[in-house]
Amino acid sequence: MTTDAPSATSGAVLVTGATGTVGSHVVSALADRDAQVRAAVRDPAGAADEFARTVELVEFDFERPETWGQALADVDRLFLMRPPAVSDVKRHLTPFVDAAARTGVEQVTYLSVLGAEKNPLLPHRRVERHLESTDVAATFLRASFFMQNLHEVHAEEVASRDEIFVPAGDGATSFVDARDVGEVAAVVLTDADRGSGRRNRAYDLTGPVALDYRQVAAVFSAVLDRGIEYADPSVPEFAWRMHRRGFDWGYVAVMVGIYTTARLGLADRVTDDVSRVLDRDPRTLREYVADYADEFRR
Ligand SMILES: NC(=O)c1ccc[n+]([C@@H]2O[C@H](COP(=O)([O-])OP(=O)(O)OC[C@H]3O[C@@H](n4cnc5c(N)ncnc54)[C@H](OP(=O)(O)O)[C@@H]3O)[C@@H](O)[C@H]2O)c1
Repeated sequence: MTTDAPSATSGAVLVTGATGTVGSHVVSALADRDAQVRAAVRDPAGAADEFARTVELVEFDFERPETWGQALADVDRLFLMRPPAVSDVKRHLTPFVDAAARTGVEQVTYLSVLGAEKNPLLPHRRVERHLESTDVAATFLRASFFMQNLHEVHAEEVASRDEIFVPAGDGATSFVDARDVGEVAAVVLTDADRGSGRRNRAYDLTGPVALDYRQVAAVFSAVLDRGIEYADPSVPEFAWRMHRRGFDWGYVAVMVGIYTTARLGLADRVTDDVSRVLDRDPRTLREYVADYADEFRR
């Protein structure tokens, strides 16, 4: 497997969720590989400053099918993700996949979740199954918990209270850096064989080790050079504080589900898929905390 094969494709790569945690890195990693990138965003004017000039922006909304045609014109590859807020798979995801297949998309790289294959009711698995039923070459990136959640959701507790406040008990998690997920997507999308060698193939993307949150707190303490504790709140304590911080109950419930999975020891599987695709080790939590240290300053 090569990581530096030039793109043998001619059309553009459409990146959904281009302003998001993974999509933003998919866009930059594709641009680094000289792919023709089109970033699909709901508000092109508002997002313009986030992207290099070489990246084309197009208005796109999963919930507004009238935006799909222009976004898909002359596109032959697609990075697909399901925004957490777009819950109706049958109404917004599968018709968009069908539109992509109809308009000439040959390869779809889909951001899924680790363990999706075991849960047919999960929206991610339902999208995977729909992709399997089409003629496009689909590749599933089943990612573990992103390290970036630690600043996007939990930086406030680290910065203002020196604590990591999640109800994960003693369970370990195989945190993956979203930058690595973005790079894996770019490699798959620029395969010389248009992904056909990876057709209906799944990669389980994890970091190099599984860490429990005491170990996570120790990495934070060492890198930030101050004591960070793991608070290990009860579920009601966690839910109430998150709600008071402004998260709606639906989002709090999703977080509780994710941390309960970790608490039960179901989030600790480590694979070498990132290193097999990228030909280098995955980023460590220590590298992540160092790179994002400003987010955690008091
Ligand atoms: N967090 C984790 O640890 C984790 C792990 C594995 C898998 N996942 C999966 O990864 C996916 C989320 O990816 P992410 O974290 O990169 O995304 P994210 O940071 O949550 O960003 C959401 C993206 O979706 C866009 N978006 C929202 N509503 C939209 C709509 N109606 N139409 C088009 N675009 C819309 C947003 O664009 P705007 O700029 O327009 O708002 C934004 O770019 C989910 O399916 C999640 O289950 C997450």
